[in-house]
Amino acid sequence: MSDVAKLTMPDGKEITLPAYTGTEQEKCLDISALRKETGYVTFDPGFGNTCPSKSSITFLNGEAGILRYRGYSIEDLCEKSDFTSVMYLVIYGELPSEAELAEFNKNLAEHSKIKPQLLKLYESLPQDTHPMVLVSTMLAGLSAHYPQFTNPHDTDQVEQAIFIALGQILPIVSSAYCHGKGKEFNYPSEPISSYGSGLLKMMFGDDYEVDTDVEKILDELLILHADHEFNCSTSTARIVGSSQANLFASLSASVNALWGPLHGGANQKVIEMLEDIANDGGVEAIDKYLAMAKDKTSGFRLMGFGHRVYKNYDPRAKIIKKTCDKVIEKLGVEDPLLAVAQKLEAAALSDEYFTSRKLYPNVDFYSGIVYRALNIPTEMYTPLFALGRLCGWIAHWREQNLDPHARIGRPRQLYMGATERSL
Ligand code: CMC
Repeated sequence: MSDVAKLTMPDGKEITLPAYTGTEQEKCLDISALRKETGYVTFDPGFGNTCPSKSSITFLNGEAGILRYRGYSIEDLCEKSDFTSVMYLVIYGELPSEAELAEFNKNLAEHSKIKPQLLKLYESLPQDTHPMVLVSTMLAGLSAHYPQFTNPHDTDQVEQAIFIALGQILPIVSSAYCHGKGKEFNYPSEPISSYGSGLLKMMFGDDYEVDTDVEKILDELLILHADHEFNCSTSTARIVGSSQANLFASLSASVNALWGPLHGGANQKVIEMLEDIANDGGVEAIDKYLAMAKDKTSGFRLMGFGHRVYKNYDPRAKIIKKTCDKVIEKLGVEDPLLAVAQKLEAAALSDEYFTSRKLYPNVDFYSGIVYRALNIPTEMYTPLFALGRLCGWIAHWREQNLDPHARIGRPRQLYMGATERSL
């Protein structure tokens, strides 16, 4: 098969475009010389067909429902690995040996305390500030407190910045929770055994008894959120980083991108939607909400449904759905929202509107029900997504930073405004 495509331009000129095939047989046309050769740019709203660079971190096949980090399936990683090893894998490309993991954990522990002055930032923000604002502000604040680690051209500085961000994200997320509750934030008295147990102890207090099954479930949720190739918040990390902004600044920007309800903010919105349905008659009201979701003038979408890339059941949602059943059974929780979610899912999956558009539950549909069972408040769901995704943002920022061919991200426009006019 030819490794070039031929394109005939409106003036009849024919040009060739190099065609690439990725390691998973994905096809790609190189249009990087198009404007230079023809004067044309490409029109691609939402970047649905645009690939700004090569990447070796995550592979996903939305038609087949496959998601792999560095070649390992998320199913295998959830069953046989742990979140800290997955963070290492996503960032550095290989699962760590025992010695590498010990060294990694040591580096994270050494950087796991927020500077007291930085913690004072909370004092200037109202108690009801959304925790995503706090997480983003604190990450941006790291640039001010560690200026010695902000040079993207210095590998050692970047490594230190990675340890600081990964080490401090846990107290950052947990202290954001404490700020909202108006309670003092404290570090656990013992070294933490995992991000899941550290999170529970930092949020709920040192006396909180961490159940090992719950710890494993939180670890699994973090693994499932670790990376998802060039999604909105990851592309944000890449585009901010492409201007050679430092790592902390880029991560802070990613948190803001994640917060939107069409992206990570959907996990909070799903629960709010299920609560609305429950308060509006419960399962009896499902048809009404489905009708609203199908009505383009209603401004309502079925939250936790649909995905730009998955045109099949999101493989993360499949795992979380099972986890949800396990948690509910293990903790003996009775959550009326679970029945609403299950009925809503079944109704949507047998409705032509959703099936013809290949709209399936995504990662955010059931995760909130798991967090609710653990008594984690709704506004903390998106910060927990950020906690999991931080390693993915770092991996992409680092991959780009090490790429000698990387260029500043700078799309073109199709200008449709006024032509020159005089005052
Ligand atoms: N409810 C009702 N209709 C929908 C939905 C939905 N949740 N999602 C897509 N559609 C319709 C949309 O109206 C369009 O219909 P038509 O072809 O008649 O114009 C069609 O499906 C294609 O949708 P789109 O908006 O072109 O798809 P997109 O790839 O631009 O958007 C999405 C993807 C995730 C933003 C969208 O599906 C959505 O808004 N979902 C709800 C929010 C959500 O759950 N977001 C979390 C995404 S997964 C986790 C993450 O990325 O953080």
